[in-house]
Amino acid sequence: MGLLDGKVAIVTGSGGGIGRCHALALAKEGAKIVVNDVGGDRSGSGGGKGMADHVVDEIKAAGGQAVANYDSVTSMEGGKNIVKTAIDAFGRLDILVNNAGILRDKTLLKMEENMWDAVIAVHLKGTFACTQPAAAFMKDQGQGGRIINTSSTSGLIGNFGQSNYGAAKAGIAGFTRVCAQEFIKYGITVNALVPVAKTRMTEDLPAFANLPEGALDPAHISPVLVFLASDLAKDINGKFFLIRGPLISAMEVKTTEGASKDGMWTPQEIAKSIDKIMAW
Ligand code: NAI
Repeated sequence: MGLLDGKVAIVTGSGGGIGRCHALALAKEGAKIVVNDVGGDRSGSGGGKGMADHVVDEIKAAGGQAVANYDSVTSMEGGKNIVKTAIDAFGRLDILVNNAGILRDKTLLKMEENMWDAVIAVHLKGTFACTQPAAAFMKDQGQGGRIINTSSTSGLIGNFGQSNYGAAKAGIAGFTRVCAQEFIKYGITVNALVPVAKTRMTEDLPAFANLPEGALDPAHISPVLVFLASDLAKDINGKFFLIRGPLISAMEVKTTEGASKDGMWTPQEIAKSIDKIMAW
């Protein structure tokens, strides 16, 4: 018995990196998988069927069921076709993992419009373009569902040189919170992963380059994904999980107790009370 026997899952961008680990882990628990990937490079250039096909082969070799899809998540047509692939192949859809991603890093003053647009398109628009048709189908199917998005500390905390990526990942965080509120009445939960893993996306960053072999292996991210995709997490909605190797933490937005007064503040009064306003 697997945790996900009889379930059908889509994992976008699962031809490599964290997505591949997700697809293998979901399949190991009995889910049937749509392995979506455009097969491009880290910047989103190029493409091909090889990456998705390879992961489908891996799942089948381990005794699981999977089909490939090569659509880009960046258009509504692509999102609809990814969902249709699941329904055509397996007749249902229970789990959507929005994982596809690219990087086009530059500091803001050097950021070109196409770098901004491409990163927003894959991460933020792509999450919308897959979530809408998937949630619509799950609602009509009437058996709940699981949507797991992928945010980043670059968006939730900030990271030098990633204004496009950080904006997209913070946007995904807001999107996650809103969808969690809207879909819970259909039994569909929406949560987000905040992974830290050594993949082609991060391997040349100084913090990742000299790690010992196997440290921050992307496979560490997937048990949290499987947990969130399963009935074990039926009461967890709108939450964020930071995963760094074997360390799993929760993240949330917090406000201070703050300061108040009768009537309007003056800027000078705010300056005098700033320590209290900002006291954590
Ligand atoms: P990766 O580059 O190995 O995987 C991303 C996958 O998405 C690739 O296989 C790529 O071909 C696919 N993809 C790109 N554009 C696509 C499109 N338009 N449609 C369909 N597939 C597309 O990188 P990694 O590290 O596995 O990233 C997975 C997710 O985790 C991304 O959303 C990334 O932003 C996020 N993430 C990763 C972190 C890390 O430390 N590796 C940190 C924070 C977030």
